[in-house]
Amino acid sequence: MKNKKNILCIGAGYVGGPTMAMIARKCPEYRITVVDVNARRIEEWNSDSLPIYEPGLDDLIRTTRGKNLFFSTDIARGIRENAIIFVSVNTPTKAFGEGAGMAADLQFWETTARQILQYSESPKIVIEKSTLPVKTALAMERILTSAGNGVRFDVLSNPEFMAEGSALRDLEQPDRVLIGSRETKSGLAARQVLVELYAHWVPKEKILTSNIWSSELSKLVSNAFLAQRISSINAISALCEATEANIGEVARAVGMDSRVGSKFLNTSVGFGGSCFKKDILNLVYLCRNYGLEEVADYWEGVVRINDYQQTRFTRTMLKAMFNTLAGKKICLLGFAFKANTGDTRESPAIAITKKLLAEKADVAVSDPRALKNAAIDLKDVEGQVRFIEDPYAAAAGCHAIAVLTEWDLYRELDFERIYETMLKPAFIFDGRNILDHQRCFDIGFNVYPIGKPPLSHF
Ligand code: UDX
Ligand code: UDX
Repeated sequence: MKNKKNILCIGAGYVGGPTMAMIARKCPEYRITVVDVNARRIEEWNSDSLPIYEPGLDDLIRTTRGKNLFFSTDIARGIRENAIIFVSVNTPTKAFGEGAGMAADLQFWETTARQILQYSESPKIVIEKSTLPVKTALAMERILTSAGNGVRFDVLSNPEFMAEGSALRDLEQPDRVLIGSRETKSGLAARQVLVELYAHWVPKEKILTSNIWSSELSKLVSNAFLAQRISSINAISALCEATEANIGEVARAVGMDSRVGSKFLNTSVGFGGSCFKKDILNLVYLCRNYGLEEVADYWEGVVRINDYQQTRFTRTMLKAMFNTLAGKKICLLGFAFKANTGDTRESPAIAITKKLLAEKADVAVSDPRALKNAAIDLKDVEGQVRFIEDPYAAAAGCHAIAVLTEWDLYRELDFERIYETMLKPAFIFDGRNILDHQRCFDIGFNVYPIGKPPLSHF
């Protein structure tokens, strides 16, 4: 089939790769090229060993790659040959200078804008896929029009709402697709091009259009609301522990109110992932910038509670294990920031491992998919942590197990077998409340869930 339209995506990461693969599957008449500055990443996308783990992705790539989906490092050529350009480069939190630790680091974004300007010879629709501070599109427009080379650029905002671990389902059946544009004649025409692309598989009523600033802000606010629910339930988990209420029962009762809803009320050791913290800090920075101190403080509280929840978890461990962890062997089950991904960005497991090491504990980390990334995250404490994929081997000889990721595999472990191989008294700290606590207690473990009374033999 002759390709009617060409699409380019700059940035072959967790967002760019799966999103473009889904477009390739749903729009066979489009030819899609994904480019990245990282040659090794592109090599991996072109191999049998993809750079990211996502359920179903191997199959999707196998059926689209080489047909209408291509991975390349030739950014200049990509820009020249494609009229529709998605930008999905990373925008981490700034680590230096003004706004350090809060604002978004836009250097990759600006580099990309300048590349687009440099190599464009014909009109382009440039689509922000990365989550960005509000009004970034304006900066993009300014850079693109700065040269006055006669090329027309329309900048759209089309934030991605997929979650890792369920990315393909989210991409295939999104709750909504959001497209923001300038409300000028050419802005509206560009918006329509993107509406038509998504209309290949997304029902029309789920494709929302808005002005470009609303679109940018909606993405930050969506993530802030989701994270806020987790911090809310985690804050209440502390109160449950103090009062002997049960967080599971409270969450069920609260979530059954249809005005509240039941999703994102799972208490945990804290949220992680590349987006929540970064986007909230961005929102906070934005509010402070506009002098909205009360609003900034309100949202900053969501991140504060998340840090508190991680600290609380290691404090519980310390207290339960007779106020000393020095020399004690602790097995961490799970390092990924959530199940069904190998991604460890901002995973609570990173801070927890370091807190345990600070107490001089001997830590073994286990995870079915994330050990490679875990080793990178823990580079500065290299040699102090053991990485053991098999959970039975990781737990053997340990004083305690801490569940940090809700992998199904951990629910199904043979805890009798594990108990036999551990030092006594043996402890379980369930940072995800996924295990059968009564059963583990009956086996002999001292069990410390989150937001529920502990089951202790002492
Ligand atoms: C990224 C952003 O982090 C997030 O804010 C946004 O919502 C979507 O895009 P993700 O895909 O998870 O999310 O990031 P990552 O996996 O780091 O991928 C970004 C890719 O862009 C990397 O492969 C990087 O090499 C590439 N990149 C970065 C470029 O191609 N050019 C650059 O100038 C900078
Ligand atoms: C999130 C948003 O859900 C998605 O819409 C956006 O595009 C990117 O950011 P992601 O970070 O991939 O997606 O995963 P998500 O499922 O939202 O989980 C984020 C974190 O919250 C994980 O650490 C997860 O374990 C935690 N979480 C989630 C809880 O602790 N409790 C819950 O009830 C839900």
